[in-house]
Amino acid sequence: ASKQRLLVVANRLPVSAVRRDDGSWHLNVSAGGLVSALLGVKEFETKWIGWAGVAVSDEIGRKELTEALAAKRCVPVFLDEEIVQQYYNGYCNNILWPLFHYLGLPQEDRLATTRSFQSQFDAYKKANRLFANAVKEQYEEGDVVWCHDYHLMFLPKYLKEENSKMKVGWFLHTPFPSSEVHRTLPSRSELLRSVLAADLVGFHTYDYGRHFVSACTRILGLEGTPEGVEDQGKLTRVAAFPIGIDSDQFIKAVKLPQVQDLIKELQGRFVGRKVVLGVDRLDMIKGIPQKALAFEKFLEENPNWHDKVVLLQIAVPTRTEVPEYQRLSSQVHEIVGRINGRFGTLTTVPIHHLDRSLDFHSLCALYAITDVALVTSIRDGMNLVSYEFVACQASKKGVLILSEFAGAAQSLGAGAILINPWNVSEVASSIGQALDMPADEREKRHHHNFKHVTSHTSQEWAATFVSELNDTIVEAQLRR
Ligand code: UDP
Ligand code: G6P
Repeated sequence: ASKQRLLVVANRLPVSAVRRDDGSWHLNVSAGGLVSALLGVKEFETKWIGWAGVAVSDEIGRKELTEALAAKRCVPVFLDEEIVQQYYNGYCNNILWPLFHYLGLPQEDRLATTRSFQSQFDAYKKANRLFANAVKEQYEEGDVVWCHDYHLMFLPKYLKEENSKMKVGWFLHTPFPSSEVHRTLPSRSELLRSVLAADLVGFHTYDYGRHFVSACTRILGLEGTPEGVEDQGKLTRVAAFPIGIDSDQFIKAVKLPQVQDLIKELQGRFVGRKVVLGVDRLDMIKGIPQKALAFEKFLEENPNWHDKVVLLQIAVPTRTEVPEYQRLSSQVHEIVGRINGRFGTLTTVPIHHLDRSLDFHSLCALYAITDVALVTSIRDGMNLVSYEFVACQASKKGVLILSEFAGAAQSLGAGAILINPWNVSEVASSIGQALDMPADEREKRHHHNFKHVTSHTSQEWAATFVSELNDTIVEAQLRR
């Protein structure tokens, strides 16, 4: 049988484009959990529709970029700078992202955001229209159209208005907050209604799904059922689909000779020191300042560890045009600088902080040599970094310290040390506990997590979502 055709629609394409001086295009793999997980999906005939992360105003540039992307089965949606500013930097990343992670707006941005809300919301709808148009051009009967994330909450509505027979699913990669939080959004009802146009709505955890359903019942007055949300006899199915990684890809990579070489090199560099690792986009939700402060407290309380441990923090630059991300960057640099000044020696510093991304093999090598992975998200949809760490630890069996506010706490909780990132003393003592943990306990915990990570893969996640979507549509036809 031929494979099911799948149109994946996400704001971010798996590759981001950079224009070289001679006008030609260079494509880099995009960062973030959404891209990582979807790249692991292989059983479908997939086409991606999304933004290449760059404004292209000339026709020749657009044509050449479209061709370069076609080789990767990607179709670009072109957004001009004004739309990117209002839709991506504004509505998506300054309003929805903080709200869905319970962060609220910083005081200094509140009034300005209140004033610009309407124009940003208009741009959001306009951008969603552009994505809908791109889908229309690619769509063939029988295709499954899978919309992703908070950028595209209007897409299900626009697609269904165009063609009510289209199979449309929507999946949220972030938490969905309590209805008490969602209801503060001026556009609260329209967003919910637009998402409800989908046949199937998916979340990482049962809790996020329950929050969504209660937002629909309390704000829209609709009926919530165990199956989903009902509106005048029409059911929108709501369910949890915890995402995973392509674990084999990591397990295989660690065994490659070039990765083994990197591992030896890193081990040489950190000889005599234990490595505590953080890998995050430089985002407010990741609790990077909290992590640095907890590490400082650990050093304060454990002078015997001073030259025997290092915190390696990879902070991948992200959304750098949004003011709140710029402020975070300075704040983190200041804290790290202070701690290194306080505990550094002539030859070593306790925190190695890198503002950059890593290529896949370096990342795998780093995961493999790590003694303790430290995930301190103050909210996080799932957190795939914790999964990737576990997949690369088959020989070392290091310890995962994991925030209870990450979706992953529900799947890796039994193997990890769970922490509340706001409790700096608790995190500090967990670092000590992890560094001193006896081998048999580490093995037991690792085994538990490894089993989960290798049996709940991104491939399975996608297959389950798509088959549930197909079933939902068959059931809806039977009901009619
Ligand atoms: N990652 C990346 N480049 C890097 C470091 C990490 O693309 O330099 C990837 C990492 O491998 C992981 C993803 O970014 O797959 C982060 O996903 P996660 O779910 O932890 O958080 P998100 O960034 O989606 O909030
Ligand atoms: C999170 C979001 C994704 C997003 C990624 C990277 O994982 O859920 O939708 O792609 O962060 O952020 P960016 O803004 O660079 O796409």
